[in-house]
Amino acid sequence: MYICLCKGITDNQIRDAVEDGVNNVRELRDLLGIASQCGKCGKEAKRVINESLHCA
Ligand code: FES
Repeated sequence: MYICLCKGITDNQIRDAVEDGVNNVRELRDLLGIASQCGKCGKEAKRVINESLHCA
């Protein structure tokens, strides 16, 4: 499922990034460019990160 349409980033890519050590949206933006355009995906990205952190 796409989380960031501007950059074409899926929830699976976010989960992989969390496994690789990403802890928050800022780090994810630095790594994948998510939320660097319209920013609409920020909230959803944060949700996926938190979910992944708690399931890790
Ligand atoms: Fe992610 Fe626009 S949907 S920056």
